[in-house]
Amino acid sequence: MAVSPHEGKLLVLTPGLGAVATTFIAGVERVRNHGAKPIGSLTQMQAIRLGQRSENRSPLIRDFCDLAPLEDLEFGGWDVYADDGFDAAKRSDVLSYQDMEPIEDFMRTIKPMTAAFDKAYVKNLDGPNVKQGATKMDLAEGLRADIRNRMEETGSSRAVMVWCGSTEVYKRPSTCHESIEAFEEGLRNNDEAIAPSQLYAYAAIMEGVPYANGAPNLSADCRALEELAKQKGVAIAGKDFKTGQTLMKTILAPGFKSRMLGISGWFSTNILGNRDGEVLDDPESFKAKEVTKVGVLDTILQPEIYPDLYKDLYHKVRINYYPPRGDAKEGWDNIDIFGWLGYPMQIKVDFLCRDSILAAPIVLDLALFLDLANRAGRSGIQEWLSFYFKGPHVEEGHVQEHDIFIQHFRLKNTLRVMMGEEPVTHLSESYVGELA
Ligand SMILES: NC(=O)c1ccc[n+]([C@@H]2O[C@H](COP(=O)([O-])OP(=O)(O)OC[C@H]3O[C@@H](n4cnc5c(N)ncnc54)[C@H](O)[C@@H]3O)[C@@H](O)[C@H]2O)c1
Repeated sequence: MAVSPHEGKLLVLTPGLGAVATTFIAGVERVRNHGAKPIGSLTQMQAIRLGQRSENRSPLIRDFCDLAPLEDLEFGGWDVYADDGFDAAKRSDVLSYQDMEPIEDFMRTIKPMTAAFDKAYVKNLDGPNVKQGATKMDLAEGLRADIRNRMEETGSSRAVMVWCGSTEVYKRPSTCHESIEAFEEGLRNNDEAIAPSQLYAYAAIMEGVPYANGAPNLSADCRALEELAKQKGVAIAGKDFKTGQTLMKTILAPGFKSRMLGISGWFSTNILGNRDGEVLDDPESFKAKEVTKVGVLDTILQPEIYPDLYKDLYHKVRINYYPPRGDAKEGWDNIDIFGWLGYPMQIKVDFLCRDSILAAPIVLDLALFLDLANRAGRSGIQEWLSFYFKGPHVEEGHVQEHDIFIQHFRLKNTLRVMMGEEPVTHLSESYVGELA
């Protein structure tokens, strides 16, 4: 199916206007008007090889795929706190005064719309900028109206939504998540199993707006919303941005496995002091995070195929809220590996990272790729975007892929195929000829 061209402005909507969302918005403005570099973004910086290496065809992804240019982006967000984009960014304390001062007027134009919020889902937050409504359906209708209004205000022809709100408490799908009808019934009856993030996902899909989930919440990861996305022809993706420690883990683990090195233990601990850390200080929100963080090693290492190497791996993940660090998180990993004849070795990783600096380009890439997916007529779960997530949202019965190299390979081949090019196998034509 041909990809329709990007015409008009693209509105990027973020439920949550905290550290990640403001670092993303401010970053786009710095790049498009102040000469900053969009480092970490595949859509802005990465080239894609087409055909054989000898053909020397390697355009930038953004040109090859006709992605929406940064100049065409507009922004909108919701938050339970009423701070505008500038104050929210200042509070988040990620970007320096030198970066923020020249864009103050622009950032002040980003005013958070009233949030659909329920304290039962994020225990450590309480803010005044919230919607009132008798039922969850009323709140969802309110969000739908916000989407339409913001599109009109900004003169946008298309929109995408990326959840940058807090991590909600851990929940499994319940009966109201089984079908579209049950979900809508639940909205009308205020079913307590429907989380605020699901109201945003529902509103987005109903408005034909692609939705990505940057947190580990269930959100669109339930049968009802998956079906709705297919029915409405809307692309969805999730969950939980793959940034600091898990990014390192999914880079390192495939390397150890490729060399057939064993691993007996992997202990990961973090200290961070931003609002995200404060929310994760609540054990129920941490539980949601723990599930996506812990899941990655098993599918990469395949202990069922390599029991001698990985069957007894002890994997532990800890997150500690430590206010002095702010957004400058520190993630330690102690990895106990073993080699030839079982002799043990240790690897220590101390990653002094910046969470939101790593997350912001992911928000941009997801927004542009989901817009592309929708223009290409792709609906439902976009597994090819697993590259960006700790807990990739996949079709029922599919196995999540966590190996970052396989994820990257798949992402680029999907783009090639979407744009009518051959996938790349990394076997040269002559070599394939010799093998035959
Ligand atoms: N920074 C990273 O590297 C990273 C990585 C993976 C996932 N995440 C996830 O991304 C999300 C955002 O992270 P952050 O560092 O910006 O957190 P943050 O606390 O700075 O911002 C989140 C914002 O969401 C708001 N919020 C909460 N519930 C809301 C609702 N129902 N509607 C509207 N707004 C709501 C909060 O008031 C807050 O301002 C978190 O869920 C976090 O776990 C972040």
